[in-house]
Amino acid sequence: MTSSETQALPDRKANDGLILPAIGFGTYKLRGFEGSKAIESALDNGYRLLDSAVNYDNEGTVGAAVKNSGVAREDIIITSKLPGRYHNHDQAVETVEESLLRMDLDYIDLYLIHWPNPLEDQYVEAWETLLELKERGLLRHVGVSNFLPEHIDRLVKATNVTPAVNQIQLHPYWQQRELKAYDDEHGIITEAWSPLRRGGETVKDPAIVAVADKHGVTPTQVVLRWHVEYGDIPIPKSATPSRQLENLDVMGFAFDDEDRAAFAAMDSPDGSRGDFDPRSHQEM
Ligand SMILES: NC(=O)c1ccc[n+]([C@@H]2O[C@H](COP(=O)([O-])OP(=O)(O)OC[C@H]3O[C@@H](n4cnc5c(N)ncnc54)[C@H](OP(=O)(O)O)[C@@H]3O)[C@@H](O)[C@H]2O)c1
Repeated sequence: MTSSETQALPDRKANDGLILPAIGFGTYKLRGFEGSKAIESALDNGYRLLDSAVNYDNEGTVGAAVKNSGVAREDIIITSKLPGRYHNHDQAVETVEESLLRMDLDYIDLYLIHWPNPLEDQYVEAWETLLELKERGLLRHVGVSNFLPEHIDRLVKATNVTPAVNQIQLHPYWQQRELKAYDDEHGIITEAWSPLRRGGETVKDPAIVAVADKHGVTPTQVVLRWHVEYGDIPIPKSATPSRQLENLDVMGFAFDDEDRAAFAAMDSPDGSRGDFDPRSHQEM
């Protein structure tokens, strides 16, 4: 591949003007001094979108990495998420304030409701509270995670405000075509969690290895390139600096129709990593 064949990674734009880079960085399980060093390395390696959550117990780790990195605060999009146990108004306010204190920040760029927990049925109140905190300037953009159209429709009906982002499990084995189409139709950026289906088996799948070998790249690179072409934002996690670089270097080759057909055939009703049906999954 010559450099003239390498395209730039595209940005994505949401209904509220939020602009995100095409690939972000997951931080689940990155904690403590070592975790902070790994996140600092990701920033040095070019990542500008960080994904954290109250339930990852690592907001302090993320805040320290941002401070210690050579990257300007305003150039980084920092994400956190509201857990199910704090959906009511007063607890949601305190939780966001605690996130700010733990990260040592004046504002958080993107705050998501982590799961709808519809059996508790308080996610509309949580959404109204995030909008209030946005008004106060503590949050720049707000969105959701693991929401289905029926949940998002209720938020919009109650507040007239559509989430900027919906972060869902999405990878070649679980492509979520209908949900992705709904997000697209409403100007909602779809972020993909476990975009590599947590590494492991994915990078050994013969169908993926065959596409990678054909292009002289790694299995992870073809999976992430598939995400970019599909139009979601993958947020791969890696504690390994060389993999962090590899995972951003995905635009130096192009798929042909045979590759696209191979990926389309991977989508499966059994492809989800675990039983995570948002209608019933309780995550507090
Ligand atoms: N909203 C939600 O409900 C939700 C749920 C789950 C996850 N998330 C978010 O999504 C992020 C990503 O998902 P994930 O952490 O579950 O899984 P993932 O990003 O799909 O996979 C991470 C695994 O892949 C390995 N890996 C990364 N790059 C690799 C490469 N180039 N070659 C080989 N292996 C590689 C990593 O190993 P090393 O680290 O050892 O390099 C790690 O074991 C999370 O960190 C979190 O921020 C959100």
